[in-house]
Amino acid sequence: SSGVSRHDDGQLAVQGIPASQLAADYGTPLLVVDEDDFRARARSFRDAFDAAFEDLCGGVDVYYAGKSFLVTPVARWIAEEGLCLDTASGGELAVALRAGVDPARIGLHGNNKSDGELRRALEVGVGRIVVDSLDELTRLAELAQEAGLTAPVMLRLTPGVHAHTHEFIATAHEDQKFGLSMADSSFTEGQDPDLSADAQRMDGPIPGKSPAAQAVAQALAAPSIELRGLHCHIGSQIFEADGFALAAERLLTFLAAIRQDHGVELEELDLGGGHGIAYTSADEPRAPEQIATALAAVVRAVCERLQMRCPRISIEPGRAISGPAGLSLYTVGVRKTVAVDHADGTFPRRYVAVDGGMSDNPRPVLYDADYTAVLASRTTEATPVLSRVVGKHCESGDIVVRDAYLPEDLQRGDLLAVPATGAYCHALSSNYNLLTRPAVVAVKDGVSRLIIRRETEDDLFARETE
Ligand code: LLP
Repeated sequence: SSGVSRHDDGQLAVQGIPASQLAADYGTPLLVVDEDDFRARARSFRDAFDAAFEDLCGGVDVYYAGKSFLVTPVARWIAEEGLCLDTASGGELAVALRAGVDPARIGLHGNNKSDGELRRALEVGVGRIVVDSLDELTRLAELAQEAGLTAPVMLRLTPGVHAHTHEFIATAHEDQKFGLSMADSSFTEGQDPDLSADAQRMDGPIPGKSPAAQAVAQALAAPSIELRGLHCHIGSQIFEADGFALAAERLLTFLAAIRQDHGVELEELDLGGGHGIAYTSADEPRAPEQIATALAAVVRAVCERLQMRCPRISIEPGRAISGPAGLSLYTVGVRKTVAVDHADGTFPRRYVAVDGGMSDNPRPVLYDADYTAVLASRTTEATPVLSRVVGKHCESGDIVVRDAYLPEDLQRGDLLAVPATGAYCHALSSNYNLLTRPAVVAVKDGVSRLIIRRETEDDLFARETE
């Protein structure tokens, strides 16, 4: 985060608080969140997009993607900074409500929302429910009707954009579970001719008509549905502008087709999240201003060409707000050096084991994600040697940082800092091997405070019933 610097004594410090102080006060592994940095990133998305889209659609609604990192105080920071909140489950919705976020500024996502989740969203009056399938649209219409309410709906479409990112986090191509396809569903093989009309409506596409077009017609015809607009999310950790631009163009074109076919101008267009951040020096993220300006230019051009009013734009950044604001602190334990075979002989590889691992950051295991590590508790003149930072779990894939140059004199008890762990680390953490999950500390105005306490052994047993 921007609050990280070297203290006078050579230690890494967050807003002037030395790493050893944080470790002494809260223990390790520790997730340190720079609250000021988090808030500044939230504001910069809001301000940059508002400025770029001001004269196009009066500004932008920024929905922070809670899935990246959501605890009650974080939901409050988001609301205080004037952002909306995107939730992806009943649990995330519960945190948002607990934090006192205005329901009208909450969105609910999910490809398989339960009836209970939909009912709760309707009852508390969330601002939008992002509908993912024809099945869900039918169920939501019924649930809303039963409750005597109208459901504010965005339809999530898959614009068929292949984003350049890891397969597991790319979401706008056809062959994955999310969204309503914009492509006509005429299969050359495998079409079941006996499929009943009802079954097709529920979960099977009608040949010659895209599921997206079907959903629009169905939503417009349902009295208990208020179709507010369209949504897409092309994937995560994306750096290129092209994917976002292409998705925007395809959805705007689709909005124009809806105007043509149904005579309605839908009011909103959500272009999703996925803005990439720097995990290592190899990553070169664009600033929110650049992203916003480039996107606004595309939206303006397409709207002019199609002679349409620009819909109210919204976006859903998660990682780009929470990721860089977090930093993990670990304590060094066992070190060992092994001989690794190579075409030209063998070379040494030093393993440095720390007191956490895949339970507090599973991203390297899941997505081959790269991170960096630095010695945080002191400086040294010792030569940096190629090292692999690993965790303490019973798996050889339990890697925290695949390749890091760390000082030769690294010792047990030294602290390592791994930057950019604010997104999808706490959120994806587990108790694997019955490790207790780390504490989370927020730093604001040079003062640290605990926002999530470290788990205890009692927590590990808390849900056992015998
Ligand atoms: N909107 C929707 C509909 C999403 O599905 C996501 C992320 C976002 C917004 C926020 O994306 P972001 O701006 O944070 O990239 N666990 C993976 C990332 C999964 C992303 C899931 N959806 C990781 O650690 O890389």
